[in-house]
Amino acid sequence: MKCVEVPKAYAEKTIRLLRKYGVLDTEHLITRRDDRIIIPLRDDKQVLRILADIPLEIISCEPPTRKRVKVRVPAHDVIGNIVIVRENVLEFMDKDELIRVLHTIYPRIRTIYLKKETTGEFRTAVLEPIWGIDDPITINKEYGLRFKIDLKKAYYNPRLAEEHRRIAKEVRDGERIFDLFAGIGGFSIHIASLHRSTIYMNDLNPYAVRLGIENIIINKKKIRGVIIPLCMDSSLIPKYFKQSVFDRVIANNPHYSHLFEHVYRYLLKDNGLLHLYFVSSTKECDSFLERYFSNWKLLRVRKVIDYAPYVFIWRADLVKP
Ligand SMILES: C[S@@+](CC[C@H](N)C(=O)[O-])C[C@H]1O[C@@H](n2cnc3c(N)ncnc32)[C@H](O)[C@@H]1O
Repeated sequence: MKCVEVPKAYAEKTIRLLRKYGVLDTEHLITRRDDRIIIPLRDDKQVLRILADIPLEIISCEPPTRKRVKVRVPAHDVIGNIVIVRENVLEFMDKDELIRVLHTIYPRIRTIYLKKETTGEFRTAVLEPIWGIDDPITINKEYGLRFKIDLKKAYYNPRLAEEHRRIAKEVRDGERIFDLFAGIGGFSIHIASLHRSTIYMNDLNPYAVRLGIENIIINKKKIRGVIIPLCMDSSLIPKYFKQSVFDRVIANNPHYSHLFEHVYRYLLKDNGLLHLYFVSSTKECDSFLERYFSNWKLLRVRKVIDYAPYVFIWRADLVKP
């Protein structure tokens, strides 16, 4: 068979171009000889044209077959019977190979989506189906609770399941809690499943609130507390609620949570607790809190989930001054 041999510095570009034109042989392994990379070809006819500006040699070769190596599994999320991968996965993996790998691990999945971005005030995902039916509605389990989700209409991140549980375990019976940016109800329903507390479950996105209500119904046998669903802009809440009556406020709107400081201050009792979620690098974490919450007493701050390279979602537990 034929391979193309290129200097190491040109390997990445060569592989990208060969993959783009469907000439890369993915059945065999790419190998290395000193400072040169040997890339197997399906067909060598068009190679000189495709790689016109790359210094190369076309050689005869016998690279090992791919079957001998372990499959590389890209980062992904499994939500019910849907798998989501980030769009950049396709920069280092062929689409067919990606589908094959995910199917080997999850033979019963129904859909694979490529996530392009998370947009707008409602933080909804832009998803492109790459395999299966384009149906973003599914049910995901968190600690035995079932959550109905519409991945295109309301925010959902399965990696928050542990955080939902962690906060729920901290609550005591009898607390009054305001979940200001509740999405489809993760924090509220976890809390109500463990405690006889009263939780106001609010979100501006009507689809999220509707799903939140459905989720209360789906989990009704497990719910011990009282959940009051609301669909409001959190900045207007001081107009409609009594001041200083809440023990705990959950502010999980990481990009904008600092803009609602006056709302948290208004709702919480003296010494009430705020769980504030925000996006930051490790370096800027302290200065963020200093800038927007310098009057509050900081109990602790912890990383919750990864957001981007070197950037995380954090939670600060702050006591009302
Ligand atoms: C990160 S998501 C919440 C996730 C949710 N807490 C969970 O654990 O799954 C942020 C939510 O804030 C909502 N939101 C954005 N602006 C808002 C506002 N001004 N008032 C109320 N909700 C808002 C969005 O619709 C979105 O559902």
